Amino acid sequence: MATNITWHEGAVSKEERQNLLGQKGFTIWFTGLSASGKSTLATALEQTLLHSGVSAYRLDGDNVRFGLNKNLGFGPEDRTENIRRISEVAKLFSDAAVIAITSFISPYRQDRDSARELHEKAGIPFIEVYADAPLEVVEQRDPKGLYKKAKAGEIKEFTGISAPYEAPEKADIHIKTHETTVEEGVQLVLDYLVNKGLVA
Ligand code: PPS
Repeated sequence: MATNITWHEGAVSKEERQNLLGQKGFTIWFTGLSASGKSTLATALEQTLLHSGVSAYRLDGDNVRFGLNKNLGFGPEDRTENIRRISEVAKLFSDAAVIAITSFISPYRQDRDSARELHEKAGIPFIEVYADAPLEVVEQRDPKGLYKKAKAGEIKEFTGISAPYEAPEKADIHIKTHETTVEEGVQLVLDYLVNKGLVA
């Protein structure tokens, strides 16, 4: 725990920055089982926003674990720390007037609620998107062969098989990815953002 540290205010407020750059920053937080479609949706959403001239940046579970979070595993404490760090990074992007799009399993409700609280305390919108597909469906998809390995006992603490996933009870957007195309899923998010006045 660091002591003797002091917060330094910048010369440009969050509001002034948003006005200067012409866009609001906020976080779109995808949660869901492995292979639920969260990374696919996040990637397509990022592409759509960028192509319409809106600055967005995707933070992805696998990718972040190659660098920033390379020292973290998949036990409960490490997953909580993974999500805590990502919440802080997403908040920094949002503060910089960028749309942070995160796609992490983020299996614990408490961790997702803490991420929301961190943002809301700073006056930054936080939108939780549940990429929802039944376990039977994601096991069938199994694009990386991870469910097969987990069921064979080759991967310990695998979400949905040998580690918990606490589904959201109050997601802002609920996308049933086994009943929706990627384009429809992206459109649901865009409609939500327009309705809330977050993008034009
Ligand atoms: S978490 O729970 O939010 O900390 O996980 P996350 O950072 O999103 O990382 C999930 C990706 O890691 C791979 N992987 C595992 N997932 C779940 N459980 C275990 N034990 C595990 N081991 C490796 C897997 O590729 C996940 O990617 P997605 O995109 O979710 O399939």
